[in-house]
Amino acid sequence: MENREISKAVITRLPRYYRYLGELLESGVERISSNELSTRMKVTASQIRQDLNNFGGFGQQGYGYNVKYLYTEIGKILGIDRQHNLIIIGAGNLGQAIANYANFEKRGFIIKGMFDINPRLIGLVVRGIEIRGVDDLEQFIKDNDVQMAALTIPKTKAPEIADRLVNAGIKAIWNFAHVDLNVPDDVVVENVHLSESLMRLSYRVCSMQDRKKEEERKARGES
Ligand code: NAI
Repeated sequence: MENREISKAVITRLPRYYRYLGELLESGVERISSNELSTRMKVTASQIRQDLNNFGGFGQQGYGYNVKYLYTEIGKILGIDRQHNLIIIGAGNLGQAIANYANFEKRGFIIKGMFDINPRLIGLVVRGIEIRGVDDLEQFIKDNDVQMAALTIPKTKAPEIADRLVNAGIKAIWNFAHVDLNVPDDVVVENVHLSESLMRLSYRVCSMQDRKKEEERKARGES
């Protein structure tokens, strides 16, 4: 497949297509039209066609999409047909929750190790993954061909650790610490902030309630 630039907005939507297609595959569906996919995903059929046409040759008029092919191709675009070796820095609540989630491995994300500074945690094993002291960080990254790191440490500690990770050759940081990281251009950062997601949810529920109140007021004839 040709390797052309795909817009960020499309990339953001791909994991959702991937999930739906995976479910279709599991239930034995071999092909699907953009209209059917549209009904299931609650996205317009034209959006689906536009998104998937980015990759060319997936859909055929009157035939629909070949689910397995599309699933495999989207997997390749997302890079989850390859193995990514990952470490977790910060083996507290969040770090351990991530380590305990077995499904990341199914997607090719292999958690090689966890790191912490708390001596009470060092040496413990979470789902077969040992917690190590941060002194070993650089050597471990080299020895285990680690590419990605999840940062689940307090924000005050994150910039210093991020610098160490980058100097040790880490190319991708999954950042849960509430701080924006400065990294060189050849390193990518994906910020995950549950509280920001919650605030968006709060905004949506509040504006919905306000709209409803406004409609009720109008219905009562109040201005
Ligand atoms: P926690 O206190 O249970 O775990 C933090 C761990 O980091 C501790 O075990 C601590 O010893 C370790 N640590 C501290 N400095 C370190 C360093 N320099 N190197 C290695 N390990 C170090 O906290 P929790 O609940 O796991 O949260 C972790 C961080 O993630 C917090 O800063 C919190 O604000 C943030 N957080 C972010 C969320 C998000 O959606 N982005 C959601 C929940 C928490």
